[in-house]
Amino acid sequence: MKSFEGKTAVITGGASGIGLALANAAADRQMNVVLADIEASALEVAVQHFEERQCQVLGVMTDTRQKTAIEKLLADATEEFGNIHLLFNNAGVVNFGGATPIWDLPDADWSWVMGVNFYGVLNGVQTFLPHMIAHGEEGHVVNTASIAAFLPGGGPYGVSKYGVVTLSEALAQDLQTAGSNIGASVLCPGWVNTKIGDAERNRPGDLTSEVNPSGQGLGIGDLLAQSKSPNELAAQVFDAIENNRFYIFPHTGWDYMLREHTEAMLAREGVYEFDLQGHVATRFEGKEI
Ligand SMILES: NC(=O)c1ccc[n+]([C@@H]2O[C@H](COP(=O)([O-])OP(=O)(O)OC[C@H]3O[C@@H](n4cnc5c(N)ncnc54)[C@H](O)[C@@H]3O)[C@@H](O)[C@H]2O)c1
Repeated sequence: MKSFEGKTAVITGGASGIGLALANAAADRQMNVVLADIEASALEVAVQHFEERQCQVLGVMTDTRQKTAIEKLLADATEEFGNIHLLFNNAGVVNFGGATPIWDLPDADWSWVMGVNFYGVLNGVQTFLPHMIAHGEEGHVVNTASIAAFLPGGGPYGVSKYGVVTLSEALAQDLQTAGSNIGASVLCPGWVNTKIGDAERNRPGDLTSEVNPSGQGLGIGDLLAQSKSPNELAAQVFDAIENNRFYIFPHTGWDYMLREHTEAMLAREGVYEFDLQGHVATRFEGKEI
């Protein structure tokens, strides 16, 4: 996708972090911006921010887990701005699992994380793609996964993000086969300075977890504060959109892990073990992670 001015971008999880930065990057290109988010107060602040920027903006309260909510998002967005050209399936959450083994992790955690991170993306693809293909104008879809898709030990988060990678690969292939002028990308960042470590703030009341009844966050605020800025990430994402690149791996400091993981699979031996603490330590030696 090369031309953005006057076109419309829809961003789920658009009220914070990466989504907000993507929305700002879209607004920089004179796009209309539709912010979809579950956090009412953050959404209100974000909408006000874009109004102050003199941007065309619409905020829609949306729980991406719910297909009906995504259908309403499409209806509201098209009623306000007409055709949708750029879709960021970006909303995501991560649970606090502590040292809970995978077999003891409650269904509530699986349901919440898979619901937002995987089914939220699938709902977006199923609902928006028919509209985007039918109107015939060029467009692009970016699904936010994570480098965590390739890291063993991430619990439901890693499972959901691996699903987003393979779902996105299927989407890109099917769009090509259909001869569509809609591009697709999958975004797999390492750490970015956002509020993702406090994702529990948006956990629905009916999915409270026995392993984290107080809604404790991940406690990675200091680490994230020293990580890549969302705005820098958004610039890399728009570069990929403009050049129609599918795989977006913005953190080259994780490349060795992807290589080692693949080598472990090809060696057909034990599960790949990654030294996360060692990896974290390298950032304080000034290496990009
Ligand atoms: N920050 C990182 O280090 C990092 C790394 C890799 C991938 N990611 C992914 O980036 C995406 C954006 O996260 P972020 O880092 O900007 O975190 P963030 O918490 O700052 O933003 C996430 C946004 O999603 C919204 N959201 C949560 N549940 C929702 C739901 N059910 N429906 C609609 N909106 C919902 C939140 O309210 C919030 O505004 C996520 O998919 C996350 O998994 C983040």
